[in-house]
Amino acid sequence: MNLIEALKWRYATKRMTGEKIGEKELETILEAIRLAPSAYGLQPYKVIVTENKELLHEIFEKSCPQIVVQQCSHLLIFKAKKRLNEEYMEGFLAELKRSRNSTDEYIAGYRNKIYNVILNPEVNTFNWAVHQTYIALGYATFAAAQMGIDATPIEGFDAGALNRLLSLNIEDEEAVVMLTLGYRNEKEDRLAFQPKVRKPLDLLVERL
Ligand SMILES: Cc1cc2nc3c(=O)[nH]c(=O)nc-3n(C[C@H](O)[C@H](O)[C@H](O)COP(=O)(O)O)c2cc1C
Repeated sequence: MNLIEALKWRYATKRMTGEKIGEKELETILEAIRLAPSAYGLQPYKVIVTENKELLHEIFEKSCPQIVVQQCSHLLIFKAKKRLNEEYMEGFLAELKRSRNSTDEYIAGYRNKIYNVILNPEVNTFNWAVHQTYIALGYATFAAAQMGIDATPIEGFDAGALNRLLSLNIEDEEAVVMLTLGYRNEKEDRLAFQPKVRKPLDLLVERL
């Protein structure tokens, strides 16, 4: 499928068949997440991947009563960071220096630039991290569609319950959005053959 065909084909699938997606396809989707852009390249998020039926059932019961969570092949849970400590920052800067063979002077300047943002009391680090996380979500959704894999972004869940279920340290990170991966059940999904509802381009785009 070309880009637009894939975007027209995909939809937020409400019923899946339970059929498994291939490991190679899963890896491609995860690689798309890894390659997503983020502010300064900091990737202030992590993704939990699970196909564990018991865990999926528990998530359904305690946090997200959407049937597709139990019918998917894999569930991706995107967690956004709430703080970027020195260890995180210096690890990132060391990798930047190593992979690009950057000078100490360049790294010091980059460090300053980033700290100006993340130490700015007007910047809410968690909100800022959440913005980056949604870009990664978009990349995963699109990568799945290109391979004919269905994906449902899910925000409708009890984040507190999920954080507890996953034993997340909420001083550090919180679950913000999920993505089910799998295959649509066309017989059971009332949305399987519905047309897309989107604004026409002239209402969405202003050309100056
Ligand atoms: C961030 C985000 C959160 C969403 N949360 C849910 C959700 O909790 N449950 C659900 O069924 N669909 C969810 N959706 C899917 C949207 O309802 C859907 O993308 C939108 O109606 C457009 O339809 P389409 O994606 O099928 O073209 C979410 C989509 C996004 C981008």
